[in-house]
Amino acid sequence: MWSRGLASLCSWSNLTCTLGSSLQRSRVFVQVQRPTLSALVYLRGNVGDLGGIVATKAMEQVAGLATSAVSAAASAAGSLKRKQQKKVGTHNGTFHCDEALGCFMIRMTEKFGEAEIVRTRDQKILDTLDAVLDVGGVYNPEADRYDHHQRGFDQVFGHGFATKLSSAGLVYKHYGEEIVAKELGLDPQHPDVQRVYLAVYKSFMEAIDAVDNGINQYDTNAPPKYANDTYLSARVGRLNPDWMDENSPEKEDQAFHQAMELAGKEFLDSLRYYGRSWLPARSIVAESLAARKDAHESGEIMILKQFCPWKQHLFELEQEFQLNPTVKYVVYQDERSGSWRVQAVAVSPGMFESRKALPVPWRGLRDEQLSKVAGIEGCVFVHMSGFIGGANSFQGTMEMARKALEFSEAVEMKH
Ligand SMILES: *[C@@H]1O[C@H](CO)[C@@H](O)[C@H](O)[C@H]1NC(C)=O
Ligand SMILES: *[C@@H]1O[C@H](CO)[C@@H](O)[C@H](O)[C@H]1NC(C)=O
Repeated sequence: MWSRGLASLCSWSNLTCTLGSSLQRSRVFVQVQRPTLSALVYLRGNVGDLGGIVATKAMEQVAGLATSAVSAAASAAGSLKRKQQKKVGTHNGTFHCDEALGCFMIRMTEKFGEAEIVRTRDQKILDTLDAVLDVGGVYNPEADRYDHHQRGFDQVFGHGFATKLSSAGLVYKHYGEEIVAKELGLDPQHPDVQRVYLAVYKSFMEAIDAVDNGINQYDTNAPPKYANDTYLSARVGRLNPDWMDENSPEKEDQAFHQAMELAGKEFLDSLRYYGRSWLPARSIVAESLAARKDAHESGEIMILKQFCPWKQHLFELEQEFQLNPTVKYVVYQDERSGSWRVQAVAVSPGMFESRKALPVPWRGLRDEQLSKVAGIEGCVFVHMSGFIGGANSFQGTMEMARKALEFSEAVEMKH
């Protein structure tokens, strides 16, 4: 009766079990497809333990007693899974954003999927755990020890980032690429994984490392002009039980899990934004930049193929490809109004000053007056500061960009 292949496929609770047999000596294996792959591997390795229980029960099942066979398999699987479940430790007491996020992230990995979180400062217990974050005084990635409080600790993310890491930064440093790849559904070797990995560090993680290590955002001792208490680390901090409230280890653990969820959600939001919005925009800018000489032989005018947030990408791509000369104007169709714009590129990110602002005589003018002064038909406006302008057609707008480029050169030649 028992032959090669699957005997049945059935569901019990939220586990999907596949009962089957191999050809030899009626050994039975159980494949737990959910919840984790590690459970699957473990169970396969323990065929002997399970074989007896499941074989008998599975026979019954074939005889029609499906439920008992499946629940036997599932409970056997469950107890094995519990035995196998990884444990990740962190300290108890007041919690911070870094270990809450670190615990959330490490549970996203293959190795620590669904791991139990153990909160204690008892070193004897910590020593028995599979990973330890933010406590224990050791940084040793081979042993999954990620504390950052010990004297002499000076780990940074690298890739040009020099902020001392927190336990979140440490977990991200060692498991970030895996997490990003999984979330984006890409091979870990894919270049986009590395891009998003770095972008999320820059925009999201580094602040958490810095806040935790007490590093100020600005080099100044001037008192802040207003309170800023809504950033993630502050909000996570507020989830700690209040001194007024009755406290217990259970309540504290519950609050910590809320903190993990809060920090984790914002981490995933950031990761998804970079994967789904930022990355496609980067591709559009990269293509537009590659085609810049088709727009104008100087290479200093870029036509954005499709509207998207382009500024940050342009700066980064120019640096990456060491572009010289740099782009002075970007011509694009405004996403809402559909009208054409020419925008002068800023000197650097965060600066308002343009590399080559639109000509002074055009600034603050509109419509016919502007068209006359510029000698271009269909002009609509140029901003007072000369950083942006537009005409009612693509041709007109391109003409503005070309003339602006020449105009600047003429002025320079006079000097
Ligand atoms: C942490 O847990 C230990 C027991 O494991 C307890 O003795 C200690 O008071 C707790 N510390 C804090 C700050 O809650
Ligand atoms: C508030 O502080 C956080 C963390 O230091 C920072 O990232 C954020 O930009 C600040 N917000 C404002 C409005 O200053």
